[in-house]
Amino acid sequence: MSELITIERHILEQQRRFPSATGEFSQLLADVTFAAKLVRAEVIRAGLVDVLGSAGIINTQGEEQKKLDQSANEKFIKAIGHHGRFAVMASEENEDIITPPDSSGKYVLLFDPLDGSSNIDANATVGSIFSIYRRKSTSGAGTVQDCLQKGSEQVAAGYVIFGSSVMLVYTTGQGVHGFTYDPTIGEFLLSHENIQTPKRGKIYSMNEGYYRYFFDGIKKYIKYLQQEDKASGRPYSARYIGSLVADFHRNLLYGGVFIYPRTKKAPEGKLRLLYEANPLAFICEQAGGRATDGYTRIMDIVPEKLHQRIPLFIGSEEDVRIAEEFEQGLRELEHDRELIPNMLAEVARAEKTLVK
Ligand code: AHG
Ligand code: MN
Ligand code: MN
Repeated sequence: MSELITIERHILEQQRRFPSATGEFSQLLADVTFAAKLVRAEVIRAGLVDVLGSAGIINTQGEEQKKLDQSANEKFIKAIGHHGRFAVMASEENEDIITPPDSSGKYVLLFDPLDGSSNIDANATVGSIFSIYRRKSTSGAGTVQDCLQKGSEQVAAGYVIFGSSVMLVYTTGQGVHGFTYDPTIGEFLLSHENIQTPKRGKIYSMNEGYYRYFFDGIKKYIKYLQQEDKASGRPYSARYIGSLVADFHRNLLYGGVFIYPRTKKAPEGKLRLLYEANPLAFICEQAGGRATDGYTRIMDIVPEKLHQRIPLFIGSEEDVRIAEEFEQGLRELEHDRELIPNMLAEVARAEKTLVK
């Protein structure tokens, strides 16, 4: 029988490899795990308690806030903000930075408390995403500048996915590890050690409903994925839940590409650099994948504002590279091998008719 390893023990053992570790960092992740348990308790009772539906509030980014968006946000702030480990926090649901009551800590927490919330009422998978940095400021409360660091400065990132089972996936830059929640003992247990994503997949995930708003490169890429070519495993399957965490997690395990491109309607893209793109980019790269905005590595982008949006190309390395080539206009659609014989047959038929 294999050994049962709780997330707390796993984090401690990873930190032990660093002689200078004070244990504080392990505590940070324990705080996040605790918040995840609180949010889970709320999410799994969503149909029973009066939390379903809209709160009738539009959030800082002009999006409708669901009641669970609000309560998940509160749970994060309450579970984490009072321990003095974070100098500053920022949430997708708050316009400004959050200064914890004790802001003397050394770290910065950025989070999307509930991702995919438009799926809540239909009981489809949602998640929470988090990202941790060291503060840059040297005294007093943390600042906005502490939050505006490049993704490459992250010291840890992770997400919790509330699916048919609940999982927490995290990285501290030493691989990606997944833990499944066992509700009978209230612990996250190691179930997916050192996750590696396939170099190439067979799944593409994008909101094709916006096809008419896509630029030509992405339109051609979609057609490329739909062509038949045994050697490259095409056509691909389309899978899109509309919860980034769920779409990302599936592709991480099975291989594939998730794209939320810039569009004619949303030239900056939709997803948020600090709360969504950076943490998932860190995890993806640690798992051997690739994450860019179609041109530039996500984690090299210097954020200018808290709620900055960004186009996101993320997943299996080869798939992301091909998507970038189309986006950048460096690659053209091949002739559809199936269409050519059909076209030739049609021409032959037309010729015969003319001869008659
Ligand atoms: P959130 O629920 O945190 O606002 O995030 C929603 C995001 C993301 O989860 C998903 O990938 C995307 O929005 C879906 O957007 P579309 O409905 O435009 O496809
Ligand atoms: Mn989100
Ligand atoms: Mn959200």
